[in-house]
Amino acid sequence: MEKSGLDSDGRQFKNAEEMWREEIGEEGDLQKKNEWYQKAVGYWQNVEASVDGVLGGYGCVNETDIKTSEAFLKNILSERFASSNSASNRHLVALDCGSGIGRVTKNLLLRYFNEVDLVEPVSHFLEVAQTNLNPEHIAVSDDHKAANFYCIPLQVTHLQCTVAQKSKCSHTHLHHEQMIHVLLCFQHLV
Ligand SMILES: C[S@@+](CC[C@H](N)C(=O)[O-])C[C@H]1O[C@@H](n2cnc3c(N)ncnc32)[C@H](O)[C@@H]1O
Repeated sequence: MEKSGLDSDGRQFKNAEEMWREEIGEEGDLQKKNEWYQKAVGYWQNVEASVDGVLGGYGCVNETDIKTSEAFLKNILSERFASSNSASNRHLVALDCGSGIGRVTKNLLLRYFNEVDLVEPVSHFLEVAQTNLNPEHIAVSDDHKAANFYCIPLQVTHLQCTVAQKSKCSHTHLHHEQMIHVLLCFQHLV
C-alpha cells in the first residue's frame, strides 16, 4: 500500500520507501542507520520519566490507550489460544519493546502474562520502570512479574536472539527491516 506523508521537518514523501532512502541511503548505510537510531534515543534522553513524558505530553490518553490496547491484545490471545482456558493453563511471557517507564507492562501486560521482560535504551526511563514494577508497589499475584530489565536498543542483534529464546514481542521505534528480523526470530518460537 502506497501512503504519502510528511516528516517532522515538513518534508513530503511519496511513500515509505522514499522516506527510508532519504533517511538511511539506498543500501541502508550502517552509519546513517546508527545516526537515525541515535536521533530517536537522543530525543528520549531529554524527556522526563513520567507518563506524560513517554506519551509526548498527552498523559491524558493513558487510560484510553490501555483500554484499546487491551481490546487488541484480547483479540490476539483469543485467536492464538482457541479454547478459553488454554491461555490460563500456560506460562505466558512477553517482551515490552521500548518499554519506557513500564507504563504498558504495569497497566496491561502483567495482567495477561506471567513474566514480562523490558527492553529500553534510555537508562533513566528503565530505572523508573524498575521502581514502578517493584512487586511492593503493584497489586499483581506472585506468578505475574517483571522479570528482566535490559537497558539496550532492540536492534542489537545478540539481544534479539537471547530475549527471543523466551519472549514474544510488544512494540517500539524500529526501522521496518529490523522489526521484520525480530519478528522472524520470534516466529521460530511460536
Ligand atoms: C513513545 S515512547 C513509548 C514508551 C512505552 N512503550 C509506553 O507506551 O509508555 C517510545 C519508547 O521507545 C524507546 N525507543 C526508542 N528507540 C528505541 C530502540 N531502538 N529500541 C528500543 N526502544 C527504543 C524510547 O526510549 C521510548 O521509551
